[in-house]
Amino acid sequence: MAIPIRNVALLGATGALGTHIRNALTQAGFVVTAIQRKDSTNPVPSGVKSIKVELSNKDDLTSAFKGQDAVVSAVPNPALATESIMIDAAIAAAVKRIIPSEYSTNLDTPLSRQLPIVKEKVKVRDYLQSAIASNGTSTTWTSVNNGPFFEMCLKAGALGPNIKDKKAVFHNGGNNLVGTSTLPDIAAAVVKILDPAHLDETANKPVYMYSAAISERLLTKLASEVTGIDFGDVESGKILDLDIDQMVAEAEEKLAKGDRSGWFSYYYQMMYGKGYGGEDFQKLSWNERLGLRTMDEADIKELIRSTAQELGVLTGSNASS
Ligand SMILES: NC(=O)c1ccc[n+]([C@@H]2O[C@H](COP(=O)([O-])OP(=O)(O)OC[C@H]3O[C@@H](n4cnc5c(N)ncnc54)[C@H](OP(=O)(O)O)[C@@H]3O)[C@@H](O)[C@H]2O)c1
Repeated sequence: MAIPIRNVALLGATGALGTHIRNALTQAGFVVTAIQRKDSTNPVPSGVKSIKVELSNKDDLTSAFKGQDAVVSAVPNPALATESIMIDAAIAAAVKRIIPSEYSTNLDTPLSRQLPIVKEKVKVRDYLQSAIASNGTSTTWTSVNNGPFFEMCLKAGALGPNIKDKKAVFHNGGNNLVGTSTLPDIAAAVVKILDPAHLDETANKPVYMYSAAISERLLTKLASEVTGIDFGDVESGKILDLDIDQMVAEAEEKLAKGDRSGWFSYYYQMMYGKGYGGEDFQKLSWNERLGLRTMDEADIKELIRSTAQELGVLTGSNASS
């Protein structure tokens, strides 16, 4: 069994995902140090140490990482220019494990790797692998691939039903399954990866996980059952069924003119496009090996209910089960 990881440096510790990772690591008994931007004003809770550094300064980062067993990153829009410095510093500080800020759907198929939305993440993964291989270091890496963030997508209406607008949109028929994950479940996966029981088996590879396997049609049906909203159907024209290839073609045209308004189309391509790897999430999943939960319909309905309440669509009195 691997030597236990105790001290974890966490970048992005005050962000949407990072907050959950920070809490889960702390609860699991790890000693977390938040590595914050020098000018950050985001507070960390008492009991969590914070070191503020210039993230583009390798020497400062190396000093901050000294004595740490693992570096976990949850920074937004990770780009090679900054992430390579973090990787070099973590290797120089001889940490045992680096978890980069990936948290995407699939970076392992030739088709997904060329999507503009993950171009920088692919560069960072490639850099991480080659830096570790060429340094003769004992440092290892693991990336977490979790599919779309479930709470965020449900709130934004990105996976079929838009609860707030009481409308639904399908892509390529709406029957394709996607593996979507909640932020606490992603954080639980990070904890498991750093657990001595799983540290060796998760070294130098991507770990795929998901909280729920869901299609846009099923999520719409469940959302209707929970909220009572009639989303209609494709046949009547109330629900649009969009063709992803066409969406991407339009996005490409826009992008060529510097217009990024079609950017989100690429996420649908990665989730549902044939050969992009989104469809492989169950085959690739580590859920069972790591002992991660998989949501059933009751769990999904509970998340829909709390989201609808948060959006003000459901109040205590009109919530059905
Ligand atoms: N799969 C999905 O559906 C999905 C959805 C959203 C995000 N993600 C991915 O999840 C990861 C984390 O994203 P997130 O949305 O949780 O991040 P976020 O909420 O924007 O978190 C940002 C935190 O990172 C730190 N930070 C470091 N560099 C920063 C910079 N240049 N600008 C702003 N903040 C910076 C800040 O902490 P301090 O102030 O403490 O330094 C901030 O609190 C990213 O890899 C992102 O691509 C995936």
